[in-house]
Amino acid sequence: MPVTIVVGTQWGDEGKGKIVDALARDMDMVVRYQGGHNAGHTVVVGDTRFALQLAPSGILYEHITPVIGNGVVIDPGVLIEELDALESRGVDTTKLKLSGNAHLIMPYHHELDRLTERYLGKNKLGTTKRGIGPAYADKATRVGLRLQDLDDPKIFHQKLEVVLKEKNAIFAKIYNHLPLDPEVIESQYIKCYAPRILPMMTDTVALLHDGISQGRHILLEGAQATFLDLDHGTYPFVTSSNPCAGGACSGTGIGPLYIDRIIGIAKAYVTRVGAGPFPTECDGPVADELVQRGYEYGTNTKRRRRVGWFDTVMLRHAIKLNSITDIALTKLDVLDSLDVIRVCVAYETDGTVYEDLPYNQSVLHKVSPVYRELPGWKTDLSNASSIEELPQKARNFIDFLVEASGINISFIGVGPSRGQVIRR
Ligand code: GDP
Ligand code: IMO
Ligand code: MG
Repeated sequence: MPVTIVVGTQWGDEGKGKIVDALARDMDMVVRYQGGHNAGHTVVVGDTRFALQLAPSGILYEHITPVIGNGVVIDPGVLIEELDALESRGVDTTKLKLSGNAHLIMPYHHELDRLTERYLGKNKLGTTKRGIGPAYADKATRVGLRLQDLDDPKIFHQKLEVVLKEKNAIFAKIYNHLPLDPEVIESQYIKCYAPRILPMMTDTVALLHDGISQGRHILLEGAQATFLDLDHGTYPFVTSSNPCAGGACSGTGIGPLYIDRIIGIAKAYVTRVGAGPFPTECDGPVADELVQRGYEYGTNTKRRRRVGWFDTVMLRHAIKLNSITDIALTKLDVLDSLDVIRVCVAYETDGTVYEDLPYNQSVLHKVSPVYRELPGWKTDLSNASSIEELPQKARNFIDFLVEASGINISFIGVGPSRGQVIRR
C-alpha cells in the first residue's frame, strides 16, 4: 500500500514543498489534495528557486506524474500562468492531470474574498485574498462550477447565470460594487481557459487506483496545515479546506486503508501569517533574527510571517489528528546563531497547566507557554549531511523533540536547497 501523505503540523510554510521534492525522487505520482493558490511551496534546485502555487511539488522531476485532485480549488488563469512560467524555465508540465471534480475559482470569488476582508475591518482574518473561502463556500452550498463544466458550455452558462445573479445582488446591495458581466466571464473561461485546461482533465480517481494496483508510489501533498484546518484548526482563523490527513482521502478518492505513511512537517520554530492565536509568538531581536535567517516572508504574498518558538503541545495534537508516523524537522539551520533555544512543553493559565491543547479555544487565546530552555549549538549546520555531523547540542534538541512527541524524526532540513536534508 505505497501511499504517503505529507501534512503540515503548524500554521503552514513548514517547508512542505522542499520535503515533497526530496521524497518525490522515489515516488511515481505526486498529488495535491486541497487548497488552491493560497499555497506557496518553495523548491530550490541549484541556484533556481521555484515557488509553486497549484502545481504539485513533484512536477520538477521528469519521472513524476503530477496530479491535482478533486479537493483542490483551481483558478484556471493562475494555473495556466504557472505552467507557462515553469515551461519557460525548462520544466516539462505536459504530464499534469487535473480532476474534473475540482471546483473552479471564479472572478467573483476573488472579489468577495477582498470585499469581505475589507468589510470585517479590524476583525479580518488576513486571508490570501485568492478567493479560496468563497469558492469552497459555493462548493458547500452547491452552486460551485467544476472543472468538468468547462467541457459543457451549456451547463456552464446555466450555472453561471444562476450563481452570478445572486453574487451581483450581494455586490450591489451590500458592497456597493458594480456587477460582473457573465458574458465576459463566460468568454474568458470557455474560449480562453477551456482549450488549455481540458486536455489535462482526467478521471484522477481511476488513474490513482490504477497506480495503486500497479504498485506505484504515490505521495499526497497537503497545502496549508493542521492548525489552518477548517474543522481542527484555530477557527475562524483557518483556511476553508481540510489540510489534515483525512482531507487527503476525500481530496483524492483514495481510501484510508491505502495509506501507509503520514509524514508531519514541523519547522524548528513556528510561523503564522494572518490573524489568530499563537501561544509561543515572540517579538524583538530574536523574532527579527528568525525572520531574517529563515527569510520568513510569504512565498507569494510577501507578507512578513509572525514567528515563535517550537510548540510541542501543538505537535502532539497534530500527531493525533493526522496519525503521523514520522516527522520531517525543517529549518534547523535557522537556529544556528541562537545562544538559547526555547521549546514550549505545556501551556499555563489561571493556575492550570495544559499539556494537551485546551479544548476551549477561548483558553488558547489567553495561555502562556511553559518553556524548557536548551543551549544553542552556535555552529553552521548548512553543510551537514548526516546526523553524526551535527554538533551534540543540535542532536540534543532533536532528541528532546522526539521524546516530547513520541515520534521519530526521519528528515532534518539544514538549508533550502534540494540536497540540504539529512535522512535518518
Ligand atoms: P511550504 O509552504 O510548507 O512549502 O513552505 P514555504 O516554501 O512557503 O516556506 C518555507 C521556506 O523555507 C522556503 O523559503 C524554503 O526554501 C525554505 N526552507 C525549506 N526547508 C528549509 C531548511 O531546512 N532550511 C532553510 N534555511 N530553509 C528552508
Ligand atoms: P502553504 O501551503 C501559510 C492562511 C492565510 C490566512 C488563512 C486563511 O504555503 O503552507 P485563505 O486565503 O486560505 O482563506 O486564508 O490561512 N494561509 C496560509 N498561511 N501558508 C499557507 O499555505 C497558507 N494558506 C493560507 O494567511 O491566515
Ligand atoms: Mg508556503
